[in-house]
Amino acid sequence: MAAPGVLLLLIHGCAVLAVELSTSNQNPVVEEYQSVELSCIIKSTTTNDPRIEWKKIRNDETSYVYFDNTIQGDLKGRAKIQSKSSLVILNTSRSDNGKYRCEVAAVDDSKKIDEINIFLTVKVKPVAPKCTVPKSVPVGKSAALHCQENEGYPSSLYSWYRNSDPLPNDSKTNPKFLNSSFTLDPKTGTLTFSAVSKGDMGRYYCIASNDAGSAKCDEQVLEVYDLNIGGIVGGILVVVLVLSLITAGICCAYRKGYFASNSRSTGQSFKNPGKPEGVNYLRTNDEGDFRHKSSFVI
Ligand SMILES: *[C@@H]1O[C@H](CO)[C@@H](O)[C@H](O)[C@H]1NC(C)=O
Ligand SMILES: *[C@@H]1O[C@H](CO)[C@@H](O)[C@H](O)[C@H]1NC(C)=O
Ligand SMILES: *[C@@H]1O[C@H](CO)[C@@H](O)[C@H](O)[C@H]1NC(C)=O
Repeated sequence: MAAPGVLLLLIHGCAVLAVELSTSNQNPVVEEYQSVELSCIIKSTTTNDPRIEWKKIRNDETSYVYFDNTIQGDLKGRAKIQSKSSLVILNTSRSDNGKYRCEVAAVDDSKKIDEINIFLTVKVKPVAPKCTVPKSVPVGKSAALHCQENEGYPSSLYSWYRNSDPLPNDSKTNPKFLNSSFTLDPKTGTLTFSAVSKGDMGRYYCIASNDAGSAKCDEQVLEVYDLNIGGIVGGILVVVLVLSLITAGICCAYRKGYFASNSRSTGQSFKNPGKPEGVNYLRTNDEGDFRHKSSFVI
């Protein structure tokens, strides 16, 4: 009968003799320049004046934030201790992001020390992103539009707008963009067209956003122009034809000139090898003749 009572007393006694911490919020989130409480509550202790310390832990490196009853380092002048052991940062900055540890040492307790970790997130609004839009792209060509900013925390997600209409992440998912073929990676901000169409012409801008806010870049115009394939092929053919005619003309003139100059000048040494060779070339060297002709076509 007495045993449970003794046991209860023991458990109770142990609990009272240990310093024990708790928190009302282990993962506080705050916007930059706002104030935040890093809650550290001493749940139990028998020590009248326990020693309270706060540390910041960054990449396995520990620095004091509150030590010897004073705010230390970077937080000096913009933080205070509240309700005995909680740390309040009055004007948070993005550099305050990270892990903090509240440590309480109570010499009169049997378990003399306890600690609790708090993970602080300081959200930062995005700044206006830098956007790059190609000025003009021929129909059917691929194109990439970029949007990026690096201030926002957590990292921004990106969305693109054409003539003030929001674009889907994939043009296939929306019948309104049936004639387009683009995909958007909201994490990188890149809008990729696999083949630009006339309907893709327009005014484009991008918005970077996160939990803390959003920011947009200035609108830029993307032009799309026709590459008239028929016209180009026709043009090339005309040029080739003209070049062939010129070549043929030069060739004829050359031959006439050749024979003319041959008969006009001292002659004999030219005339004798000249004429038979020309005949020989035209009549019997079929392969050479073929090559000669084909050069007119190309
Ligand atoms: C908070 O800190 C920033 C600089 O980090 C400063 O410009 C601003 O004036 C401060 N705000 C207050 C209310 O002290
Ligand atoms: C695009 O994807 C992101 C996340 O992947 C999502 O938050 C967003 O709503 C999507 N946008 C559209 C227009 O579907
Ligand atoms: C797609 O292109 C066709 C032909 O050019 C046009 O008639 C139609 O309106 C376009 N559709 C959209 C959704 O723009």
